[in-house]
Amino acid sequence: MTDTVMTQAEQKKLAGATAIDILIERKLIFSGMKIGLGTGSTALPAVERLARRIADGTLSGIKAVATSFQTTIACEQLDIPVYSLNAKEIGGKLDLAIDGADEISPEGYLIKGGGAALLREKIVAYNAAHFAVVADSSKEVASLGTGFALPVEIIAEARVSIVRELEQLGAACTLREGIRKAGPVVTDNGNLILDVQWQNPVDAAAMEDAVNRITGVLDNVFFTKKKPMIFVADGTGTVRER
Ligand code: 5RP
Repeated sequence: MTDTVMTQAEQKKLAGATAIDILIERKLIFSGMKIGLGTGSTALPAVERLARRIADGTLSGIKAVATSFQTTIACEQLDIPVYSLNAKEIGGKLDLAIDGADEISPEGYLIKGGGAALLREKIVAYNAAHFAVVADSSKEVASLGTGFALPVEIIAEARVSIVRELEQLGAACTLREGIRKAGPVVTDNGNLILDVQWQNPVDAAAMEDAVNRITGVLDNVFFTKKKPMIFVADGTGTVRER
């Protein structure tokens, strides 16, 4: 037993910062690279650490692609040059992406999208040569589908028909409501979010495909098609890689 006790917020900061340092040591983060930057309270400490390693001269010429308005603003404030994935400097391809997760299964499958940035997060992760996930230990779960609800980004006009089809897949759906905004959350891409939950664990890989086959669904964030490197900080102040 150790008497070090870290809060969840401290674990998030530790995971984000440590992963950046490890990835620099491994030369997976390097000067001149194109990097995808995730969204949320664990990704942001990673963004801050990246900015610090640019400021201390370890890195130069970094070109970032942000997964949300939140991360774009952070990059602007931290002097990290930020581009569209479509910019000619980026060419739709990244060397590495780093992001948080809402749940991590034993086989390394994820649920993401708690911050409603799922569509751009998935596009960025799948167009990166390497993908790293940073998380606190509360994100590790035995199975997916019954705990953190699966975020699904949808075209507003298809809301009712999509809910009907998701119910046929055994799910219960909640339209995500805004906070300090009347009505539903509207994503950075102008769409709505359904939070979707099952009573029993599901086969995430099969369900990722089944949900995405529904007309009007833009994407869901069961993340099963690409194995990430995963850095998990726990309450003892240790960062474990899995
Ligand atoms: C945002 C995400 C986040 O990475 C995920 O929700 C984890 O967030 P946090 O690190 O704040 O717990 O997918 O859409």
